[in-house]
Amino acid sequence: MKVLLIGSGGREHALAWKLAQSPRLTKLFAAPGNPGIAEHAQLCPLDVDDHAAVLAFCRAEAIDLVVVGPEGPLVAGIADFLRTGGITVFGPSAAAAQLEGSKGFTKDLCARYDIPTGAYRRFSSAAEARAYVEEQGAPIVVKADGLAAGKGVTVAMTTDEALAAIDDCFDGAFGDAGAEVVVEAFLDGEEASFFCLSDGRTALALATAQDHKRVGDGDTGPNTGGMGAYSPAPVMTATMVERTMKEIIEPTIRGMADSGYPFSGVFFAGLMITAKGPELIEYNVRFGDPECQVLMMRLNGDLLALLHAAATGTLDQVSADWSDDVALTVVLASKGYPGAYEKNTAIGTLPQGGQGDKIFHAGTALRDGRLVATGGRVLNVTATGATVAEAQARAYALARQVPWENGFSRSDIGWRAVERERG
Ligand code: AMP
Ligand code: GLY
Repeated sequence: MKVLLIGSGGREHALAWKLAQSPRLTKLFAAPGNPGIAEHAQLCPLDVDDHAAVLAFCRAEAIDLVVVGPEGPLVAGIADFLRTGGITVFGPSAAAAQLEGSKGFTKDLCARYDIPTGAYRRFSSAAEARAYVEEQGAPIVVKADGLAAGKGVTVAMTTDEALAAIDDCFDGAFGDAGAEVVVEAFLDGEEASFFCLSDGRTALALATAQDHKRVGDGDTGPNTGGMGAYSPAPVMTATMVERTMKEIIEPTIRGMADSGYPFSGVFFAGLMITAKGPELIEYNVRFGDPECQVLMMRLNGDLLALLHAAATGTLDQVSADWSDDVALTVVLASKGYPGAYEKNTAIGTLPQGGQGDKIFHAGTALRDGRLVATGGRVLNVTATGATVAEAQARAYALARQVPWENGFSRSDIGWRAVERERG
């Protein structure tokens, strides 16, 4: 099978690495890719926003499957365009991608299908949203409706903070994404991410993970795209997994199909495990980054077979097998991230690592044959172990060998799970 992978982050490096292990793969292309992906794929200089150019490439190369990594192209409708052109695509339609693209859309679906989530209201004017917050009091959560690169959510501990967040949204801090606002009840508990494949009718549970969104140790400081992750999430016991499938995932897949937007591709539920059980915080219509990296380390068997089954409506004919090992990844980011940072800083030769270790590239590039950091999140140093503590120790041992002056990482990825292991 000839596959085109779209994307250029650590998530796509992990997908490329795993796809390259498939006995069914004959050739892997990636657009635009990165130097890590280039070890497994031929990079093509395609503009992925130019859907017609991507379709022409797929036809010229007789691509059997397009795998779309990030949400941007999905929300922009690349999967619809390619499918209409007769290409098999792993990734949801733009209509189904609203599950991530519009928080209001997802909250309304939850209401219609009785999916547990925080009580909420949608607003298109500041005055009404402010009045609602005054009435409800804090803690309370204010969210820009649309895609805001993970920055559109304010978990407000005081009413003033919530009111300021509402004003920011309607003053255009998030552009069009903030033209509508969702205000929802604060959920208290431990978070976990629950990954599933769907072909529109069948949902196949993959695995669970936990990520660390805050930039600082102890989960402090501003939000980022994710500073590290581990899988599985210990809070997701067998009972919680079963309840999540029954109470959240299955009604969602049914609801999307009934509403005329069958969901095909991968998605993950951001869950809060509260005293009542699993409640939905949000959906994402893609693999998480860096959660994908730890999932791929634990997946036994053929990723391509799973993605192809999801893309062709045959998910009921496959199953996924997971290693019992824990995988943990530490993100090395450019100093200053998630604020301003210097670009094109030099990275020396990366260490090899041992069996069960892998360094994935995210924001890197080659300049005159030398590796440089071009993004905020740059490398994902990933390791496995029998316990979270062991995977953590191995990942940090490897991270310390990365010769990159301008890089930093958190020093406590996995801390909550390590504490749990200690009892
Ligand atoms: P989201 O972009 O919706 O995932 O929100 C980002 C983060 O905000 C989540 O990972 C949670 O930590 C937090 N969050 C979002 N909604 C809630 C809520 N209703 N209650 C508590 N925390 C929340
Ligand atoms: N790491 C969080 C995300 O990919 O949304």
